[in-house]
Order: sequence, then C-alpha cells, then structure tokens
Amino acid sequence: MMPVFPAGRLNDSMNSGEIQELQTAAIAEIAASGDLSALDAARVKYLGRNGRVQDILLALREAPVDQKRELGRLANEFKNSVQAAVDERREALQSAASVAAFDVTLPGRWPHRGTRHPVTQIIDRAVEIFGQLGFTVADGPDIETPFHNFDALNTPANHPSRDPKDTFYLGDGTLLRTHTSPVQIRVMQSRQPPVRIIAPGRCYRPDTTDATHSANFHQVEGLYVDRKVSLADLKGDLTYFARQMMGPNVKIRFRPHFFPFTEPSVEYDFSCHVCGGKGCRVCKQSGWIEISGAGIVDPNVFKAVGYDSTQYTGYAFGMGVERIAMILLGIPDIRMLYDNDVRVLRQF
Ligand code: DAH
Repeated sequence: MMPVFPAGRLNDSMNSGEIQELQTAAIAEIAASGDLSALDAARVKYLGRNGRVQDILLALREAPVDQKRELGRLANEFKNSVQAAVDERREALQSAASVAAFDVTLPGRWPHRGTRHPVTQIIDRAVEIFGQLGFTVADGPDIETPFHNFDALNTPANHPSRDPKDTFYLGDGTLLRTHTSPVQIRVMQSRQPPVRIIAPGRCYRPDTTDATHSANFHQVEGLYVDRKVSLADLKGDLTYFARQMMGPNVKIRFRPHFFPFTEPSVEYDFSCHVCGGKGCRVCKQSGWIEISGAGIVDPNVFKAVGYDSTQYTGYAFGMGVERIAMILLGIPDIRMLYDNDVRVLRQF
C-alpha cells in the first residue's frame, strides 16, 4: 500500500545538498525565533510529524541503494542538529523570561517580628529595677479566697470594697482578686522575714470601661519586711524606681491616704514626665500623675500571717501598670492596650 503523504511531498526527492541547505535554514530560523511559541512553530515545521524532516526520510527511502548510507547520515545529522538548536534556543528564551519576571527593585519580604506588649514591657522593666534593689518576683492565683484578698489584709466584712458591686465573686465563695495585695499574704504565710518581693499580675473589678478604666488591669505589688524598715526606705526606693522608669528628672510626691492594710498610708505621684511638672493635658494641669498606694504594713496584717510586729516592720506598695504604660508611651486610651490591634502594639 502506498503511504499517504501531505500534498506536495510525493514527488519531492531531496539530494544531499538540499538537505544541508534545509538544515542551515532551519537552524537560522530557530535561532531567530523571538519567543517560545515562535520556537515551537519552527520546531513543528521542521521536526514535526508533518514537518520537513519527513521529506528527508522519504528521499532516504526512495534513494538508490548506493546513496542510502550518505543520505541516512545526513538525515540523522539534520534531526540531531535541528533538535539541538531548538533546545538551545528554548533555554535562552526561558532564562531571559525569568530574568524579566524578577524585579530587582521590589523590596524583599520582611520576616514578621513580634514585639512585647506595652504592659509586659513595663512589668519586665519594673522587675528589672526592683531586682537591682534586691527584690525577687512572687506570684499568686487570680482566683482568691476572701481571706487572702480581704480579711488578712485587715479589710473587714463590712468594708465597701467587699460589696458584690465592687468585686467579681464566683459561685463557691472565691473571687477574682481585686488587687495584687493578697500575694503579700501568701508570701508571708510561706516564709519568715526578711522578705523583699514584687508581685506583678492581673486584677479584676467591675468597673465600667472608659478611657482610663478597665475591668481587667495589672498591678505591681511590692513588700519589704525586715527589722527597722521605715517610710524613709519606702520613699528612697520608690524614688529610685521612678527615676529608673521615668527618667532622672522625675520627682515623687507622697500624700496622706487610707488603706486598711497600711498605717500610715500614702498615695504617691510622679511629676508629669510630659511637662516636667508645669501642667499639661496629660497630667490634667496638676503637674503630677497618680501612680498608686503604699504605706507601712499594718500590725494587724502581720498578726494574720503570724509575724511578730514587735520585731519586724515593713513597707508595701501597689502600682498600676497600665497607668505607667500610658504616660510613659503616650497611649491616650487604656482600651488601646486590649484591642489587640497590631498597628498600635507594633509601635512600642
Ligand atoms: N491594693 C491597693 C489598691 O489596689 C494598692 C496598695 C495600696 C497596695 C497600699 C499596697 C499598699 O501594698 O500598701 O488600690
């Protein structure tokens, strides 16, 4: 049976010169193809199932016996060299395309770096500063007994802070601690003086949330018990703390106050670090920023934990962490600390 060839081929009979000419033309055309689809069209045109290579094979088949050997060699050389030209051109076009696709002016991908939360930063710094004064860190549970949160802190059952309106009670009579002061009790129950601890942690009060209040906030509690600890020690240590935390020019002010667990009690203020004490929006024109309470440990507290108040005295303090974070970092609204908006948190 006669093989079927595309029209125009049947009578073609190529000689060796024509094969070589075709080979030269094919390689030139392939080398000149401007993109991958042009290259593929050229490949099909020369090496495809209906391509020009078939003409050569036909010529080979029909050639007289004495020419078959030479034509066979030329046919092989045609296929190999044209295929090599295709491969080479394809590689060149592909690498040019990948260079073009790579924009060296694009900024690189930045690894996402986390930051410590501002509240954590202030706590870490407070731990560091009091560490320089010989304080170690103590911890206590967020869910407390009324004994640790109130009674042992000389806060009797009729005290207003025990009212359910001011405290989150849980069903079994325990409560979410309203301050970090119960950690003082737990520490003193578990060891003898001298005691020098700070206790950073979370506190809970049913406050209505606004720019300066949150039902969940943080304090750093401090307790120093030894022989002859006085208000002068308290003032000196808190002044040192203030200078380390706020800068060397900060002043500290004590005002008389009342807390059940200290006698005498004070509230202490830092001079406003924004205006230096002249009065501005941050300190509400007063020149001072209230940081928190402190005092000399009430003998009734020592009695509750079995310390001998004729031998030992101590000072205690509890300061608001968010307060310090807000004034130090210039955060105008306490809620920004809890929204978990990384655009805010990433700035510190
Ligand atoms: N616990 C008090 C509060 O939450 C703060 C405080 C005042 C802590 C005086 C103390 C202290 O240790 O001595 O308002």
